[in-house]
Amino acid sequence: MQALRERIRRADAVVIATPEYNFTLPGVFKNVLDWISRGDDQPFAGKPVAILSASQGPLGGARVQYDLRRVMMFVNAMVLVKPEVFIGSAAGKFDASGACTDEATRKFVTAQMAAPRSGSAA
Ligand SMILES: Cc1cc2nc3c(=O)[nH]c(=O)nc-3n(C[C@H](O)[C@H](O)[C@H](O)COP(=O)(O)O)c2cc1C
Repeated sequence: MQALRERIRRADAVVIATPEYNFTLPGVFKNVLDWISRGDDQPFAGKPVAILSASQGPLGGARVQYDLRRVMMFVNAMVLVKPEVFIGSAAGKFDASGACTDEATRKFVTAQMAAPRSGSAA
């Protein structure tokens, strides 16, 4: 856990990609965030963070993102608001190696990665 905290601390920014479990964060992932969050030196404070989610369902994990934003607010992260990225029907959008094969999804992710820190209007 110390190694992960240190990697976050040293990073210019953090990208969090997560699935949605029962409308919220997978328990193991939440547990990691909880461990990271302890102490005055927790590394998410002031850290730029972008969030994306993927799901086999049509909503692409839309609900988990709002719970995750709430958690990240508590640890004082600077979470990018827009553009949001929800990857629905994800099973058909990646090949066996994990590479994204869906052009529209690639555009959404690229736009998020290129967004200014203050976010885009879209
Ligand atoms: C316990 C559990 C709960 C899930 N709940 C949701 C859900 O609320 N919404 C959703 O879109 N997908 C849900 N899924 C499907 C996950 O989005 C899907 O499993 C995800 O893409 C992660 O893949 P993995 O289980 O192989 O890690 C759930 C899966 C599990 C195992």
